[in-house]
Amino acid sequence: MSNKIFSGIRPSGKLHLGNYLGAIKNWIALQNDPQTEQAIYAVVDYHGITTPFDPKTYSKQVMDVILDYLAAGIDPEKSPLIRQSHVPEHTELAWIFNTITPVSWLERLPTYKEKIEETQGKYTHMGILDYPVLMAADILVYKSNLVPVGDDQKAHIDLTNEIGKKFNHMFGETFPAVKTIKAEGARIKSLQSPTKKMSKSGDEGIALTDDPDTIREKIKKAVTDSGKEITFDPENKPALSNLLTIYHLLSEKEIKTIEKDYAGKSYSDFKADLAEVVVNFLKPFQDKHRELSNNLDQVEAILKKSEEKARNLAAQTLQEVRKNIGVN
Ligand code: TYM
Repeated sequence: MSNKIFSGIRPSGKLHLGNYLGAIKNWIALQNDPQTEQAIYAVVDYHGITTPFDPKTYSKQVMDVILDYLAAGIDPEKSPLIRQSHVPEHTELAWIFNTITPVSWLERLPTYKEKIEETQGKYTHMGILDYPVLMAADILVYKSNLVPVGDDQKAHIDLTNEIGKKFNHMFGETFPAVKTIKAEGARIKSLQSPTKKMSKSGDEGIALTDDPDTIREKIKKAVTDSGKEITFDPENKPALSNLLTIYHLLSEKEIKTIEKDYAGKSYSDFKADLAEVVVNFLKPFQDKHRELSNNLDQVEAILKKSEEKARNLAAQTLQEVRKNIGVN
């Protein structure tokens, strides 16, 4: 079977280890998988404007995420890298999907409910509610069937399938079924409150571009659990288990081996070493990031070429969609 992959990240802050371990690491594996026929990775800048943003710095923020993708090892020759807003077929398909998506499907989504709770209703604008419809369009405009994302996006992929199925039923077979592909690091937790996912704010997460001292400081301040032993036990030691997962995924040492290595040692020994694992892992990434930021013209040229490829593919789907719904 051949797979068509699509995934994206919102440029709503600096990318963190959760984004890398839950998503980007898998994107790189998939771009090199012989079963991959097509892989497109996006900075979803129209999703990013559904929460507060600064118009003066927004395009720089978008570019920073593109640099993260390239520095992490996405090869734009294999996997076009795009800014969502530069392929307007995404929003065009989203509009068409809007006309077949019941509002009740959107109101029941956990991400929407959380947002409403978090902001005491302040962001109850159409964009927040409609966000997952644009996500469905991002995926289906390339007829993608495989989406590498972290755990938190599962409900959105279910919705994408419901929309695709409904469209096919109403207007004829057009879209494939979509599956998620989950990384081992699909649920990296906040360093401050390990019941929440790592996010883009404050000391909760480690940004891929944090300097070594900031990383050391954040890991030192990370909450730990009661007890002394370095053991993996997500139920009783959620904080430590999260740190062990990060250690394991970045060092590729088995968790059992790490537990043995730290038998009889303290949390602070473990944390000090974990900080060095993270710093060393991120060093080549950060060097590449710096080099790319001095060659923005070259990055802009990569984007232009990628976006042209993506537009060609998306335009073919839109042509078929318009024909199927009789708007042509
Ligand atoms: P976003 O920008 O919140 O997150 C981007 C990706 O990172 C994963 N992720 C995590 N994985 C593990 N642990 C964490 N703590 C963690 N935090 C974030 C997310 O699961 C995601 O894979 N709606 C999407 C963006 C989007 C999209 C798409 C994704 C728009 N269109 C089409 C896939 C396909 C979002 O807000 O992701």
